[in-house]
Amino acid sequence: MNRAPLIFLGIFFALAFSWTGIVLTNQISYGSLQPVYDETEGKSFPQQTPGLAARGKLVYQDLGCIYCHSQQVRRPGYGADIERGWGERQSVPRDYIRESRVLLGSMRTGPDLRNIGARQTDRTWQYLHLYDPQITSAGSIMPPHRFLFETRKIIGQPSPKAIQDKLPASARPPAGYEIVPTERAESLVAYLLSLKDTYAYPETKNVYVEPAAEAGKEEKK
Ligand code: HEC
Repeated sequence: MNRAPLIFLGIFFALAFSWTGIVLTNQISYGSLQPVYDETEGKSFPQQTPGLAARGKLVYQDLGCIYCHSQQVRRPGYGADIERGWGERQSVPRDYIRESRVLLGSMRTGPDLRNIGARQTDRTWQYLHLYDPQITSAGSIMPPHRFLFETRKIIGQPSPKAIQDKLPASARPPAGYEIVPTERAESLVAYLLSLKDTYAYPETKNVYVEPAAEAGKEEKK
C-alpha cells in the first residue's frame, strides 16, 4: 500500500497546526497593536528608544544582564512585582511593540528592570552601582563592571563625568587620576534610564486592580 499521501498529510497538518498556534494566533492578537498618541503630551507611546540608549541595549545584551534580570512586570496574583515596586502596573504587549528584540528574560537573580528608569533616575547612582554594586547596595551579589570605566591621568581640566570623588576612600585612584565611564557605560546607563513603562494605555486601566480597593470590597460583603 502506498502510504505517501498519508505521511504527507500528517506532516502537513502537524506543521499547519503549530504554525497556527505559534505564529498566526499571536499575529491576530498582537500584530495590529499600534502606539497610542497622547494629545495632551503631544507624543506617541511607547516612545522610540533614543539613539544612545539603543546602543546601550546592545551593551546590555552583550554583557548578559538578561541572565539575572527580567523586563516584565507580572500582574498582582502572579507575583509580588508591584508590591516590590518594580512597576506601577503590569507589563502589556503594547509596551514592547517598538522593540525588534524583546529582552523579557526568565531569571530573576536581581530585580526586574523594566521600570528602572522611573525608579532610579540618578545617572551617578547608576555609574556607581555598575562600578561596584557594594557602594550603593551593601551585600549585593551583582558582579562589579569596572571594565566599563577608565582610570586615567587628569590632563588639564578634570572630566565633569568623573566618579572617583563619590567612591569610598579605599577605592579612589591616586591623586592626579580620575575614573570616567567609557562610551559603553554611558550608553548602557542611557538605556537603563530609558526603561520606564509608566504610560497608562486603555488596556492597562482594566488589568491593574488596586489591592486596597479589592480589600475594601471584601470587607463590604
Ligand atoms: C549574577 C547576577 C547579575 C548580573 C549578571 C547582573 N546583575 Fe544587576 N543585580 C543583581 C542583583 C542580585 C541585584 C540586587 C542588588 C543590587 O541592587 O545590587 C541587581 C541590581 C541591579 C540594578 C538595581 C535595581 C534596583 O531596583 O535598584 C540595576 C540597575 C542592575 N542590577 C543592572 C544590571 C546591568 C545593567 C547588568 C549587566 C551589565 C546587570 N545588572 C547584571 C544581579 C545581577
